[in-house]
Amino acid sequence: MRIGIDFGTSYSAAGALVDDRVQLVRFGDALQFRTTAFFPHAIPDPNDFALTPALEAQVARLLASAKAAQTRALHRANLLRAQAQQAPVARRAEALALVATPSLRSDEQLRREAVVSVRRHWLEQQMQQARASAASLQHAVYGDDAIDAYLAEGGGHLVDSPKSMLGYRLHGAARHTILGIATHILEHIRLTAGQQLGTVVRGAVIGRPVEFRSSMGEAGGVQALEILREAASAAGFDAVEFLEEPAAAALDFHRSQAGPQRALIVDVGGGTTDVAFAQLGGRAARPRIRGAWGIAEGGVDVDLALSLRRFMPLFGKDLSAVPVHRYSEAASVHDLQRQRDFRRCRFDDAPAPFASRLAALQAAGNTVRLNRSVELAKIGLSEHASWQAGLDYIEPGLAASATREHLEIAAARFLGGLERLLARVGTQLDAAPTTLFVTGGMSRAPYVRAAVQAAFPDARLVAGDPSLGVVSGLAVAAGGRPRTSARQSSRSREPGAAQFPGTR
Ligand SMILES: Nc1ncnc2c1ncn2[C@@H]1O[C@H](COP(=O)(O)OP(=O)(O)OP(=O)(O)O)[C@@H](O)[C@H]1O
Ligand SMILES: [Mg+2]
Repeated sequence: MRIGIDFGTSYSAAGALVDDRVQLVRFGDALQFRTTAFFPHAIPDPNDFALTPALEAQVARLLASAKAAQTRALHRANLLRAQAQQAPVARRAEALALVATPSLRSDEQLRREAVVSVRRHWLEQQMQQARASAASLQHAVYGDDAIDAYLAEGGGHLVDSPKSMLGYRLHGAARHTILGIATHILEHIRLTAGQQLGTVVRGAVIGRPVEFRSSMGEAGGVQALEILREAASAAGFDAVEFLEEPAAAALDFHRSQAGPQRALIVDVGGGTTDVAFAQLGGRAARPRIRGAWGIAEGGVDVDLALSLRRFMPLFGKDLSAVPVHRYSEAASVHDLQRQRDFRRCRFDDAPAPFASRLAALQAAGNTVRLNRSVELAKIGLSEHASWQAGLDYIEPGLAASATREHLEIAAARFLGGLERLLARVGTQLDAAPTTLFVTGGMSRAPYVRAAVQAAFPDARLVAGDPSLGVVSGLAVAAGGRPRTSARQSSRSREPGAAQFPGTR
């Protein structure tokens, strides 16, 4: 059995075609789950080493004993040298030559050696712990429960939106960590789907954005697909194909349209915004994709901007000497390296009340919680003129507030990018679209719909299911015959080039 998987930046979902009908997989009592995972035990990463007070005490102990040993060795050498001086003149030079001169190391060198030794011991312990808990890696907690589990456990590993990291330069153990997380999430989906469909699931059509979020240009997209393929294979999928997310949404829309039309599909998600132009509806078996475009920007970029404008000033941004980049690190919850950099800082010198708030923000899970508060504010401001977010987990009674005007300013950069993307698409179309089909969670925002409509004022705007359009299309694609060779990507960069799995 093959399933369609929407491995989203914010939410993931899966479905299959059963008797020509889309059957979506339930995760708990919902048809999608937050792409957040909590692993009860940390996956060891040597870069995680930091001198906590306990480890600092170990360094101090080692340093003291190394200094004492050095003093003893010096003392002994002096004693032996004095004895050698007493030897008869004829044998004195020889006796002195036999006295070894201990190598003298500075306090700084001794401390460096002590730190290296403590770090080695720490890493050994971490590895032992990880081995002992290998089984518990299978018992990860997914979705919003992951944050609660993380807070309750007070340790372990919490990863939010791992999809955002797939195209980033991954240093050291980071690739291994991200691969492991993607594997566990895909395995969770495969097993849950298998249980509900009553069969073994071995194949998948996985959605992919037109442009992955990347810190390495095109190479980031290549890496992202490599990691996803590897993860799917480790998760027990024998064969996977990739389909561009807006093409999947077109496939779903196509099934509901009696009359033929030229549709512009606009999928505005958490991490990316994807567009496809398709001839669909009517009697054709499948939509014909005539072009696909994308930018690696989405709802999380609006969250980041809103956080920096309305939430981070409560922690001293622009009001203290703490460098601004520390606040960007704190707000970039999907970036493991930047989160680690933020957690390692000391803010003792920041003025009150910022020092204690920043320390609270460094506590386990709190940057992700703050990010959820920011996201809820953004979502709330789609409907309400103003929003108040309680931040009691940082400080009793603390709250951030934002109005729709604040949101408009925070969303301006993202909306500018969306407008430029749609303008570029408009110049490349050979015929004007008759329909605008908007989907993706951010399409719930009135300002996003307005921007799409403004770019193509003559087309009819149809709002699809913001959450389930892509996964439904992927389920339909998975219901087709797999293409000849497994693990191909259906990259459809050229107009008309997109192929649906099963169509050839
Ligand atoms: N009512 C709303 N108003 C504004 N934004 C919303 C609303 N509801 C959801 N969102 C935003 O939509 C985004 C999630 O959309 P979606 O579930 O389509 O993303 P995804 O598929 O996980 O991401 P991607 O496709 O980019 O990988 C989040 O940024 C979320 O905050
Ligand atoms: Mg999506």
